[in-house]
Amino acid sequence: MNDELSILCKKYNCDKLMHGYAEIYKSYFDKIKNDKLNILEIGVANGTSIKVWSDYFKNSNIIGVDIKKIDIVEKKLNRKNIKIFQGSQTDKNFLLKIIEEYKSFDIIIDDGSHYPKDVIKSFELLFPILNIKGLYFVEDMQTSYNHYYHGNAFDLKYANTHMNYFKHLTDSLNYKEVANPFYKKNKYDGKIINVSFFHNMVVVKKDLNDKESNLLTNNAFEKNRYNERILKKGQKLRYFLKYLVFGRTYTFILYIFNTIKKIILLRR
Ligand SMILES: C[S@@+](CC[C@H](N)C(=O)[O-])C[C@H]1O[C@@H](n2cnc3c(N)ncnc32)[C@H](O)[C@@H]1O
Repeated sequence: MNDELSILCKKYNCDKLMHGYAEIYKSYFDKIKNDKLNILEIGVANGTSIKVWSDYFKNSNIIGVDIKKIDIVEKKLNRKNIKIFQGSQTDKNFLLKIIEEYKSFDIIIDDGSHYPKDVIKSFELLFPILNIKGLYFVEDMQTSYNHYYHGNAFDLKYANTHMNYFKHLTDSLNYKEVANPFYKKNKYDGKIINVSFFHNMVVVKKDLNDKESNLLTNNAFEKNRYNERILKKGQKLRYFLKYLVFGRTYTFILYIFNTIKKIILLRR
């Protein structure tokens, strides 16, 4: 490939090209590469990707984080738009110091330990300071499926992996569509407009998500359906009994049944 990002990956020998990530990044970054952004990458190692971002996002601040000490002179990372911090991606106080300096980020890339717990913890710590319209990338999601990386190859649906974590995050796209009047908004509901899964990569886009449901009001179905039916057909008593009495009772029974099921199966 001869696009700018691929050329830079080749120039610095960055494996994001070989792993197919460069193509995905290009699709998100092409339009914003000249903007003035704060970009944070967890995992610096030899600094190859940091140098790629430094050239590609000429007007941006590139902040690299690594648990190991990085010799910025030896790695040729002593450039004006690069800053490297040593610390762990799961250390809240360490991250708070960076946040204090930069306030917020437009792009966050997790190419750090790739352990499920670390990826999840970093996301929970950093998502709040991702800007509106910001993008959060997680590379090497395959560790989710590999017990040598603390993932789980045998319980794909329910194991505590980062793949499952991000799969569940997709529910936040549709939180207003959940026909459960007892539904409690979680901290991501209303703040995510896209979760994209690629081979070994996840991308989360932060933005205001307040699109109303056309089926529900306040996560309840019955009142809407009742109003709609009586408007079309009249027969108030019939639809009152059908939706506001039997329908609500049915929903409540399902709620109780599923609550008990979750308790028995130790699910949240
Ligand atoms: C895959 S390398 C990063 C490669 C780099 N992003 C690139 O594309 O050139 C992973 C890096 O994450 C660092 N790392 C591992 N665990 C970490 C942690 N808990 N916090 C921060 N960095 C960590 C490692 O020291 C290593 O340098």
